[in-house]
Amino acid sequence: MEKSLQTVKLDLITEIDKRVEDKILEKSNADLLKKLIQKAETPSEAISIAELGTTYKRTGFHFDKRLEKFGHNIKYFQKNRSLSFDTDKNKPVHKLIIGDNYDALLNLLIEYKGKIDVIYIDPPYGKDSMGEFAQTNYENSLTRDNLLSMLYPRLVLARQLLSKDNGVIFCSIDDRNQAYLKCLFDEVFGEIGFLFCAARITKKGGKSTQTIAKNSDYIMAYTLSNDIIFNQEEKSIEKYKFEDEFVSTRGKYALTQTLDYNSLQYTKSMDYEIEIDGRKFYPGGDKEAQEQRWAGNHGKTDWVWRWSKSAVEWGIKEKMFVIKNDRIYTKSYLNCRKKTGKNEIEWIDPTKAYTTLSFLENPYSNDNGKKELDTIFDNGNQLFKNPKPSILISTLIKMVCNNTNAKILDFFAGSGTTGQAVLELNKADSGNRQFILCTNNEITETNPNGIALDVTSKRLKRVMTGRCYDNSCDFELARKKFTPYGENLNVYNISSVANFEKTTGKTPFDVIDESLYGKQKFSTIQEKIEWVCDNFEKTQKLVENDLEYIKHLEEK
Ligand SMILES: C[S@@+](CC[C@H](N)C(=O)[O-])C[C@H]1O[C@@H](n2cnc3c(N)ncnc32)[C@H](O)[C@@H]1O
Repeated sequence: MEKSLQTVKLDLITEIDKRVEDKILEKSNADLLKKLIQKAETPSEAISIAELGTTYKRTGFHFDKRLEKFGHNIKYFQKNRSLSFDTDKNKPVHKLIIGDNYDALLNLLIEYKGKIDVIYIDPPYGKDSMGEFAQTNYENSLTRDNLLSMLYPRLVLARQLLSKDNGVIFCSIDDRNQAYLKCLFDEVFGEIGFLFCAARITKKGGKSTQTIAKNSDYIMAYTLSNDIIFNQEEKSIEKYKFEDEFVSTRGKYALTQTLDYNSLQYTKSMDYEIEIDGRKFYPGGDKEAQEQRWAGNHGKTDWVWRWSKSAVEWGIKEKMFVIKNDRIYTKSYLNCRKKTGKNEIEWIDPTKAYTTLSFLENPYSNDNGKKELDTIFDNGNQLFKNPKPSILISTLIKMVCNNTNAKILDFFAGSGTTGQAVLELNKADSGNRQFILCTNNEITETNPNGIALDVTSKRLKRVMTGRCYDNSCDFELARKKFTPYGENLNVYNISSVANFEKTTGKTPFDVIDESLYGKQKFSTIQEKIEWVCDNFEKTQKLVENDLEYIKHLEEK
């Protein structure tokens, strides 16, 4: 039997009172709702009023997407023949796309959906003349309008490109924007996909300031994978230069630590005489000074051996010492060390986990990035502000990706550091990783033809071939006769297809179907997408105006 209006009202009021008791509804709001419920004319009206007090409002962040301007034209990659080059057809062909990354990401989805292993981005976020967005990012503390709304749709596309099996996206960001960007990344990649946020050194020396010198920014990392495992950091092996008869097991050794120290707490039991091969040794190298200490003339900390007498006897047998400049040095082996408190060898893993402090070392600084660019352009310092050093990006890639055929994307490529990082990795292990870079051709005071033409493409040409586009080789690396990285580069401009002004009665899509794909008209968009994906390579060749391919079609 249907409830009467009065029973419905009473049930609703009881429910509302319960919410006040449970402290999830304010009493003043409940009283108002109850008054309105009493006045309701139908049960459904009463229920709708009660819902105002019984449904939860979704709380949280709200991000506005910056609406991309939709024109009538369709964007596509047009090969720039004069900037593209080959050095070895058997090696990877990399891509540099010049234009807005929104259009680039959309087009990349055709070929690379779910196939990108690592994405690194360094969006413009500072007041550092890096474009329209950069200039205003700091003035929208509430909405972060420019940076966040520009990035949001791009990250949504990037998410679709990233491999779900092992993909990782890294983003460099400064302290002002990091908190906002963290929320945006949580929204797009999911909080569950957050891997880490590590500080990175930007420069060693501090600027003179009356507040605090800012010498770091951040790298955030997210994944779509459920079971990502990081690789271990390799110990820097350069210092392990020496070897002895145990090299096959203990590895090479370094000689950086003496057996005696003058900064340890003084105890007489650690201030004894050592005899090796008939030669006698005393902490600090002086017998008379030792006698003085023995007589009680010593500091709280003073010269002592680091190892006990029994440990030294064990060390002599195990050949753990080297005499150099009349002092005893302990060998620091790559694969083992003396176990603390025991006279036995302890085997150690020559690798260690990366930490969120790993990127505070000088090689990862912008200072190093500048030095690197200076070896490629004689005025590198002025050409591009704050390039990242390639070792930063190659380390990030190595940290999360073992695949030597990996695809690596940077859609805020700037000076092209990510490209150089990938080339370095390929050179080190003969890998076939492919880089895909996108950068807009932003005109700056020092780059009258735009960054992509004046810096990015030129940098890649120089490090890959050892020569400039005009065939000269007057830059520091070439003067030092370095070995170029080789491999191949396809440069693309983002162009628009279908000038349909002359084709009355037809949409750009009709014109594309007819001219580009050679088809009369697709009946459904689904049919068209499937055809384009299946025939991507052919379409691309037509778009690129590949003369060989066109000739081949004509001959058919
Ligand atoms: C901070 S820089 C990247 C620097 C780079 N990591 C390096 O080491 O050289 C950001 C770059 O993104 C470019 N950029 C900004 N907005 C873009 C967009 N919508 N599409 C493509 N590139 C864009 C800027 O021109 C600038 O060169």
